[in-house]
Amino acid sequence: LDIWKYFAVSHAQHEICNPLSSAKLDELIGLLELPDGGRVLDIACGKAEFLMRTTRRWSALGTGIDISPFFVADARARIDSAALAEQIEIVEANAAEYEGEPGAFDLVSCLGASWIWNGWRPTLEALSRWARPDGWVVAGEPFWIGEPSSEHLEASGHKRDSFADHAGNVRAGLDCGLRFCHAIASNTDDWDRYEGYQSLSVENYALANPDDPDLADIRRLVEHARDVYHRFGRLEFGWAAYVFRKTGA
Ligand SMILES: C[S@@+](CC[C@H](N)C(=O)[O-])C[C@H]1O[C@@H](n2cnc3c(N)ncnc32)[C@H](O)[C@@H]1O
Repeated sequence: LDIWKYFAVSHAQHEICNPLSSAKLDELIGLLELPDGGRVLDIACGKAEFLMRTTRRWSALGTGIDISPFFVADARARIDSAALAEQIEIVEANAAEYEGEPGAFDLVSCLGASWIWNGWRPTLEALSRWARPDGWVVAGEPFWIGEPSSEHLEASGHKRDSFADHAGNVRAGLDCGLRFCHAIASNTDDWDRYEGYQSLSVENYALANPDDPDLADIRRLVEHARDVYHRFGRLEFGWAAYVFRKTGA
């Protein structure tokens, strides 16, 4: 199974492909004051919802990087129909290999893809390199709510040290020399929507594409994710968007 196809099918209903609600995403963007024409780099931009809202809100210019040909096609189509093609460019690439321009961006973000750099701290370090002095560094990351059970670790495939707790995520930013400004966490409603829409999207896809040879694999993956979430994640797994500023030169 092409994993990017799986994500495209399971996220067909999502515009925001992370567990923040639409209202929380707007609140986050409202905090990130940018100059007119300010430059935004969004790594793992998905369908470009964050970039579209941010460039509109602040009259900024955006670059989005994503590896999925499905999400890149969606992002470009959505940007075109919102008449934002002059403001936003989408690059299809593996962000781990993206060079970009160091120190050039007023805002560098990555909402939910720290596996690209194998962890939270290297994610913050990578994003910081692209931000200008005093620029925004915004990243989304899971955190443990209390101690994860061994059953949770076994079912999810995560290790205890794959993630920190909320305080640990903040501490990692400070340890990288970033200044902490704010964090917006997802609540159970937000998580239910993010996870539930995946089951709904696969159901809709299955009805419309009953002969797709990938259907059994797609169902297997989404059902496993649903079970892990309902049995463990809903109680033990948080997620937040962390807002930092890069320390000035
Ligand atoms: C959880 S989604 C978040 C999408 C988007 N940031 C959002 O909040 O809507 C993770 C995204 O990471 C992208 N991705 C995964 N690995 C990547 C890589 N190595 N380079 C670039 N993008 C990647 C996926 O295609 C997907 O769009």
